[in-house]
Amino acid sequence: MAVAEPPAIQCTALTRHFGALRAVDGVDLTVPPGVVFGFLGPNGAGKTTTIRLLLGLLPPTAGHLRVLGHDLPAGGRAVRARTGTVLEHHGLYEGLSARRTLEFAAGAHGLGPRTAAARVTEVVGRMGLADRLDDRPQALSRGMRQRMAVARALLAAPDLLILDEPTNGLDAEAAAGLRAAVRDLAAGGTTVFYTTHILGEAERFCDLVTVVRRGRVLGTGAPADLRRRAPVRAVRLEGPDLAARLGLLDGVPAAWTAVAPEVVRADVDGVDGVARLVAALAAAGVALHRVEPEGQTLEAAFLDLVAGDAPGPAT
Ligand SMILES: Nc1ncnc2c1ncn2[C@@H]1O[C@H](COP(=O)(O)OP(=O)(O)OP(=O)(O)O)[C@@H](O)[C@H]1O
Ligand SMILES: [Mg+2]
Repeated sequence: MAVAEPPAIQCTALTRHFGALRAVDGVDLTVPPGVVFGFLGPNGAGKTTTIRLLLGLLPPTAGHLRVLGHDLPAGGRAVRARTGTVLEHHGLYEGLSARRTLEFAAGAHGLGPRTAAARVTEVVGRMGLADRLDDRPQALSRGMRQRMAVARALLAAPDLLILDEPTNGLDAEAAAGLRAAVRDLAAGGTTVFYTTHILGEAERFCDLVTVVRRGRVLGTGAPADLRRRAPVRAVRLEGPDLAARLGLLDGVPAAWTAVAPEVVRADVDGVDGVARLVAALAAAGVALHRVEPEGQTLEAAFLDLVAGDAPGPAT
């Protein structure tokens, strides 16, 4: 029987105060190995603070934190040695060319010269930096510097990748390159802890997401599961001559618009509203081919979770 691997990241009641401010307030997280995990939250939610805790750069006020088998903050150095990071401040050394920066990072991760050269070629290709390798950071545009920081994080095929809003400032092509590289690393067993406020991106990209606000977890699940928690406000219906048939019914559904002769969009109140409408149409003898609730995006689920979170006193 296969033995379940221990989680790459496990936090229990993780808490970090800054004076009276509870930046991280009792967070429980379990991130299985090889998963692309999205940590989502509005500005000030505690995402970057959590990352600093995960890397042992900041001691928790309370709670337990274990990363790659090391208890933190004591095991911070060991965790950082096995982790590629893109942090809010990219921390590129201004004096080194892109090539030297990557060679230096490869050396720090213990890669031999041949492996290092192959990895540099690969990450530079992924991030579209091949023709900028001899430039120093100050000669690169903001997005190019971000690409550099990403390339450096991907270089050593680390056990853990911690990416704090890595697509910030990246154009669509570079963001796609980043996602492809991250997916490859995850397929090879790298665990990815990824923050973003671009929910459409998280929806397509992450296996598992947690929504945080004011330091507290509001919800965790696969994007498809969280999406289903979003309120349904409208439904798309398809059926033969549907628009004409609804035109003959009196007020069922109460508010609707024809998208095409066979396609109608109707307002509903939640999934129960969908069920009631479908039952009413069946009773009226209206045939439906397709019933598709609308609005269940991760963004809608996120906004609903955030709105449902009692504001409480400012902390
Ligand atoms: N060193 C610090 N001293 C005092 N307060 C801090 C410190 N670091 C963070 N905070 C506060 O902790 C809260 C969480 O900050 P954090 O940077 O973790 O948020 P975030 O989720 O990363 O936000 P963003 O999306 O803006 O990057 C904020 O209210 C912030 O002002
Ligand atoms: Mg942040």
